Amino acid sequence: MPSHDTREINADRSDIEALDEIWLFGYGSLIYKVDFPYAESAPAYITGWQRRFWQGSHDHRGTPEKPGRVLTLIEAPAERCFGIAYRVSLDVFDHLDHREKNGYLRSIQTLEFTNGDSPPGVVYIGQPDNPAFVGPAPAEEIAEQIFHSVGPSGPNAEYVQLLAEALREQGETDEHVFEIDRLLREMRQ
Ligand code: BEZ
Repeated sequence: MPSHDTREINADRSDIEALDEIWLFGYGSLIYKVDFPYAESAPAYITGWQRRFWQGSHDHRGTPEKPGRVLTLIEAPAERCFGIAYRVSLDVFDHLDHREKNGYLRSIQTLEFTNGDSPPGVVYIGQPDNPAFVGPAPAEEIAEQIFHSVGPSGPNAEYVQLLAEALREQGETDEHVFEIDRLLREMRQ
């Protein structure tokens, strides 16, 4: 199993099994690519984290030779990250652990719903010490890498575009995502 692959570590479900209800929080492709069953969904936030295109993608939006860049969450105490929460059953994690196996580990974070509820939720995070983590770079460099990357799930630029559209539809702003999306649109012209 390549060293980026987190499936074996994520296979321990004891933390999730302890939850009364299982909420999965999506902040990236899980917002617009919902290929798993769920009982209900709702907009939600997590505090202390921000989205960044700082995770390499060797399996979805790039290749091992030419990795793309996808999102992970970075700790940022004053920030709040918008996402969609899905109430799911334990079975979906076989599929999701496979889909998000490139360096992402499941973490339990407090979700904030607009109705004031704040249940724990499962969030996939590529921590800075995972082998697929590529870290910060100037926005132009990030956009350039994304513009030239394609993987089995399609062009890396499409990943950014679909997310930016989904955030706009929800009335949400994310300056980092919107800046990369703008740079990519300029490069397409
Ligand atoms: C998400 O959409 O929440 C997500 C982003 C990156 C990896 C796994 C999940």
